[in-house]
Amino acid sequence: MVRRIAPSLLAANFAALASEVESVEQAGADILHIDVMDGQFVPNITMGTNVVSALRSYTSSELDVHLMVERPDRFIEAFCEAGADCISVHAEASPHLHRTLQLIKEKKVKAGVALNPATPIEVIKHVIDDIDFLLIMTVNPGFGGQSFIPQMIHKIKEARELLNAFGKEIDIEVDGGINMETIEACEEAGATLFVAGSAVFNEKDRAFAINQLKGI
Ligand code: DX5
Ligand code: ZN
Repeated sequence: MVRRIAPSLLAANFAALASEVESVEQAGADILHIDVMDGQFVPNITMGTNVVSALRSYTSSELDVHLMVERPDRFIEAFCEAGADCISVHAEASPHLHRTLQLIKEKKVKAGVALNPATPIEVIKHVIDDIDFLLIMTVNPGFGGQSFIPQMIHKIKEARELLNAFGKEIDIEVDGGINMETIEACEEAGATLFVAGSAVFNEKDRAFAINQLKGI
């Protein structure tokens, strides 16, 4: 199966976001990954609902919103209204994860749980029927351009085994340090959706970069 690639707009030129989006869409992006950071959950501030709604009116691509914010419940409705197609929330940031997932699902938006590198996959066990995808961080969230943490390969494998044991055939999205050196091992371990920021946007020929990542 051809790998699905989600370019992370965090690595795009923000002063030319529309043309950056167009460039990766023409290059074969499958879905657009939008990193929302609040300066609390992670030590960085990025973009919010205004960017999502601006992109929504500009593109019909799926918008995958990765919320790296404390208590994401407060913002779910706003991101759904802004036009998100998928929203992932961090298990570490939501004391009432089940409720947070229900808020997303009520809006008919795909709900995902994101896990920091040190967070055990077992935290999804009791909400496994409430998630449409799992996002495994392969770096500590907060910044683009970091190095992949090799121990995460084993975690991806464990996550796929857990999902299989529950009969759940959902996407495992991997995020952070995904490039030509790391993507294959992630796929072999069971990942199916690959976020790539610097590996796409730092390349002049983005179609070549995405095709290489896809393995075509
Ligand atoms: C990190 C973000 C990632 C980041 C990936 O906190 O969640 O989506 O943009 O960037 P690269 O691919 O450069 O590691
Ligand atoms: Zn992300």
